[in-house]
Amino acid sequence: MWDRLLVDCRVATMEAAPGNPLGVIEDGAVGIQDGRIVRVGVRTELAGNRARDVFALGGAWVTPGLIDCHTHLIFGGNRADEHAMRQAGASYEDIAKAGGGIASTVRQTREASEAGLLASAAMRLDALMKGGVTTVEIKSGYGLAVESELRLLRCAKALAASEAVRIVPTLLALHALPEDWKERRIGYVSMIVDELIPAAAEAGLADAVDAFCEGIAFTPEEVERLFEAAEDHGLRVKLHAEQLSNQHGAALAAKHRALSADHLEHLDEAGAKAMAEAGTVAVLLPGAFYALQEERKPPVQMLRDHGVRMAVATDCNPGTSPLLSPTLAMNMACTLFGLTPDEALAGMTVNAAKALGLEDEIEAIAPGKAADLCVWRLESLAELGYWIGLPGPERRLYAGDDT
Ligand code: NIG
Ligand code: FE
Repeated sequence: MWDRLLVDCRVATMEAAPGNPLGVIEDGAVGIQDGRIVRVGVRTELAGNRARDVFALGGAWVTPGLIDCHTHLIFGGNRADEHAMRQAGASYEDIAKAGGGIASTVRQTREASEAGLLASAAMRLDALMKGGVTTVEIKSGYGLAVESELRLLRCAKALAASEAVRIVPTLLALHALPEDWKERRIGYVSMIVDELIPAAAEAGLADAVDAFCEGIAFTPEEVERLFEAAEDHGLRVKLHAEQLSNQHGAALAAKHRALSADHLEHLDEAGAKAMAEAGTVAVLLPGAFYALQEERKPPVQMLRDHGVRMAVATDCNPGTSPLLSPTLAMNMACTLFGLTPDEALAGMTVNAAKALGLEDEIEAIAPGKAADLCVWRLESLAELGYWIGLPGPERRLYAGDDT
């Protein structure tokens, strides 16, 4: 006897087949036991099985739960003031150079109590979950010192324990050079490499290490030192690359078999090729492109031509992407970057799972995978990338439980 059986639904398994890129099963059924999918197929194939709860879904769509594979969800305060400054003509770089930007959030985060950080992050997390998110990656990066970075990772762990969502913690170790280290760049990177990475790895607080490779942040050489240290401690790597300029960060990330390279507005062909060869996922972040009113788009056609997998994420953060809706990220990926609605859905499911190295757990609706599912009362799945401000799924199952 299974725990649950979903019937009278159309299932987008996300297991691509020829002529069926989303692996759609019309008149499908999904069996769930102990938080995992045990069987999926056409209803008649599952007809002999019984379950404690049977959900007849009246023709609704079932997709994997959405995966937001790039966020900076935990921080103190907000930066609505900088939003106003940008409307008055200041650029993100101008604001950062004047001591605002990431440095401003670092100050607000260091001042915040742990309870305050958790409460504000939980509100944002709740919005993402209502939008259909069942897995969310959370980066540190607003502490920029050993103890304050570890504190953010511990907050992520606390949220994982209290909320019905899978949280994947990333140590964003090189995000910005803190004011008090301005004259000691090398020393700062050494502190991160020699103290923070070992401490985070030892405590099991991070799955991967990230950095911001940019003119206003860290050089490729500094990032490479970080990547080598991460590898020494058994941590995967990923990178904020080619957001504002081409630093050849994507190729560097690929050289280190990064899970993903993210943003990529200024990616060149050599970078795309290297990513394809390494299996590094391109994480597209239209919320940041929109909020910064950028003009240069990531080279989506080039990524397709080279067979680089594309994921889509909110990049939820106080500075460049105060975006709290996964389906709005999908809509923006279509409208601003030219993704097809199918690509946008793959970008928040199967490809996002790969960007987190979690393909075995959550990349599809298939036997053995976690029963993280969304039920959408829509006529077609293309509507997920079409509505601007879709309220969220009718039902959201996390590890088999209705949440
Ligand atoms: O993903 N690019 C760097 N990090 C964030 C922005 C963080 C901030 O401005 O607070 C991003 O866009
Ligand atoms: Fe980011």
